[in-house]
Amino acid sequence: MNVPFVDIVRNLAPYREQLKQAACEVIDGAHFIGGPDVKAFEREMAAWLGVEEVCAVGCATSGLFSALRGLGIGPGDEVITTVHTAIPTSEAITLTGAQVVFCDIEAEPGCYNIDVGAIEAKITSRTKAIIPVHLYGHPFQLDPVLEIARKHKLYVVEDCAQAQGAKYRDRYVGTYGDVAVFSFFPSKNLGGFGDGGAVIAKDPAVLKKIRMVANHGRTKKYQHELEGINSRLDTIQAAMLRVILPGLSAWNEARHAAAERYKQKLAGIPGLILPVEAEGCFHIYHVFVVVTEERDRFAEYLLAQGVQTGVHYPRALNLQPAYAHLHQGRGTFPRAEYACEHMLSLPMFPTITEAEIDYVCEQVRHFFE
Ligand SMILES: Cc1ncc(COP(=O)(O)O)c(C=O)c1O
Repeated sequence: MNVPFVDIVRNLAPYREQLKQAACEVIDGAHFIGGPDVKAFEREMAAWLGVEEVCAVGCATSGLFSALRGLGIGPGDEVITTVHTAIPTSEAITLTGAQVVFCDIEAEPGCYNIDVGAIEAKITSRTKAIIPVHLYGHPFQLDPVLEIARKHKLYVVEDCAQAQGAKYRDRYVGTYGDVAVFSFFPSKNLGGFGDGGAVIAKDPAVLKKIRMVANHGRTKKYQHELEGINSRLDTIQAAMLRVILPGLSAWNEARHAAAERYKQKLAGIPGLILPVEAEGCFHIYHVFVVVTEERDRFAEYLLAQGVQTGVHYPRALNLQPAYAHLHQGRGTFPRAEYACEHMLSLPMFPTITEAEIDYVCEQVRHFFE
């Protein structure tokens, strides 16, 4: 059997005709930037999240940048984030002119979010914000992060790029911090048809400023309050995302059920660490990550059996050439570095079948036996 790592075509099959129709309507309407579909998508996503307002943006990277600028962050400031994330999180900080300050990840096996215990030691008089990431779709420890932020008067920007629909206690992640940013990159839980993203904020005035930054700093045509960027969600993306947004909760439930099946079938294998879902959290398994000492041989074995896997991510950010200037070499963030060298993501998507999961689990057991 061949099991793909993800199968976007299979996920979208039930929506195919509606998607074609939505795309054709945009083509026929010839309204490609802004317009009613973007406004409608913003309203529908706001209702979905249970918030007042959503600002659709061109992607989460520029959304994070706009969010930080909207909070007034720039040169001379420092922003704390996790060293184990996709580079856009830290890239957005640097793009504002602020300094990235990395933290290692949690100690508990199966948990890969920011180590909350490491944050306070990194706070200086220049620190303005913390951007923890709900990595892989699992909520970071929001309560302690919010507590630290309150104590030190810092903003919390939730990077929800991988976590639209994940829950912390009774609410969706993104609704706790000062600002939150979502991504519609095609492989994300709500994946679009190209780049896309969205931003929400607790304070409507902050969201207004973020909206301005994301649209050339303009308040109306040819009126620019500041220099911003071009970060707008394309009309065609909005129209097509409107088709699939109503199915997102079911997709997230399906991912969760797939993960539960994996966990049940893979339990008790010595040397294989499975992902943890913390008490009071709803993990939406953007990816299903396991850790083993023999990662590379394990990945090769699975591929030979027809099972595609991925690595998220092969290198902690401190070891990327882009951050060589920080002089935080090997050993600076041992947990993240270890995770990057030993983790493997197994096939995970909402329409993966039980037979496919069972086949993957059989191959995993064969490898460890
Ligand atoms: C954690 C995280 N933050 C931010 C981003 C940036 O998202 P986008 O591709 O929409 O710019 C990604 C996407 O890879 C991500 O995984």
